[in-house]
Amino acid sequence: MDFEITGSTAAEIADSVRALRERGVVRPGDALPPVRELAATLGVNRNTAVAAYRQLAQAGLVISKGRGGTLMAGGAPLAQEGVAADTVLHDIGSGNPDPRRIPDPSAALGGIVGRPVLYGEPVIDPGLEHWAREWMLADLARDDLRISVTSGAVDAVERLLAQALTRDDAVALEDPCFLSSIHTVRLGGYRGVPVPVDEQGMTVDGLQAALDAGVRAIISTPRAQNPTGVSLTAARAAALRKVLEPHPYVLIIEDDHFSMLSAHPYASLIAPGHRRYALVRSVSKFLGPDMCLALAATDPTTAERLAMRLNPGTTWVSHLLQRLAHAQLADAGIRQQIADAASHYAERNSAFTAELLSRGIRTDSTDGLSLWVRLPVPARVAAERLMRRGWLVRTGDEFRIDEASPVSDHVRLTVHDLSEADTARLLDDLESAAR
Ligand SMILES: Cc1ncc(COP(=O)(O)O)c(C=O)c1O
Repeated sequence: MDFEITGSTAAEIADSVRALRERGVVRPGDALPPVRELAATLGVNRNTAVAAYRQLAQAGLVISKGRGGTLMAGGAPLAQEGVAADTVLHDIGSGNPDPRRIPDPSAALGGIVGRPVLYGEPVIDPGLEHWAREWMLADLARDDLRISVTSGAVDAVERLLAQALTRDDAVALEDPCFLSSIHTVRLGGYRGVPVPVDEQGMTVDGLQAALDAGVRAIISTPRAQNPTGVSLTAARAAALRKVLEPHPYVLIIEDDHFSMLSAHPYASLIAPGHRRYALVRSVSKFLGPDMCLALAATDPTTAERLAMRLNPGTTWVSHLLQRLAHAQLADAGIRQQIADAASHYAERNSAFTAELLSRGIRTDSTDGLSLWVRLPVPARVAAERLMRRGWLVRTGDEFRIDEASPVSDHVRLTVHDLSEADTARLLDDLESAAR
């Protein structure tokens, strides 16, 4: 080790490690000296060294690996959703909607220019709020329901967690999980507690175990779970609500990102008596990710927390954007285009699923933009084979909460926009990769 930790109290020792990190002397992944050694070098009690490392761990700066020692945190690049940069391969891992299926906003744009909005005015456009309230109430009949507008679902999740939790709090995450939720939890310094997902949604035992482990929030995807493409069934939702009954203050965040495009009815974890909840519906999948806008239906306390956090950050979501979203959502023609897009994705994916099945390859996905395909070889091996044939796929390993989980045998494929020729070629290549 070519760096020197100094100090005689826990706070001084922790500060000296922070200073080394700030100056780049120690880097993510570097091992810190074992407690016993550090205590001996500094001439301090062993408990002082333990306390220093604990402070650093609580601040998210180091990770304790048990017998593996204490390592500087961070560094390992996290996988991101979206198209891959700089690749010559055909990227079928993006999870994107089809740009041809995103309604043209030109006509709606003309109608949104109104009175300028100034500082201090209500942050939510009244037209959009009214529309959103009706939409949400149709699924979540709550007297206390409040509407908030956020810069997309990921922003909503980040702010909801930041206001309700403190560092090191536990959050139940679906396993496998949407990458941005994994990142939000990691970067916020929370602990992700994996809850397995089967063909009906989160498992009851898994959620019970997470609640037993003391989770303070749950992020659930009621429809088109990413990456599995599974939607929560009514029966499973009822069983999960039962498990949640003794925990009315655990924050339930439902990321209903596929809402209007979904082939399934909305089933919810939020029971009538549940006190802290947020049903978040992004418009990204049907009006396009660049709208960067989501609507959240929450209890009043959660709405206040969201607003409080909005104030020192983005302050508000532009009213021009809110008016544009409202103009589009309220337009019958655009609603029809969205309904057509929903049928389009469902048809394309079910045709591909049928072709896979005829080749002996299975997917549990029944909803969503992508397919979660199980192969009889480790995903990494399949991905390498597909890469040699020109395809870039996402391996299931990327979506695991816990790096210690078993390696995945799934790949996530976004195929709804492939040409007929590419579809045929991919099916053949998947069949070979599965051998
Ligand atoms: C489960 C899930 N939630 C949210 C999003 C993105 O929402 P937004 O663009 O509003 O942040 C996605 C996009 O892929 C998603 O898969």
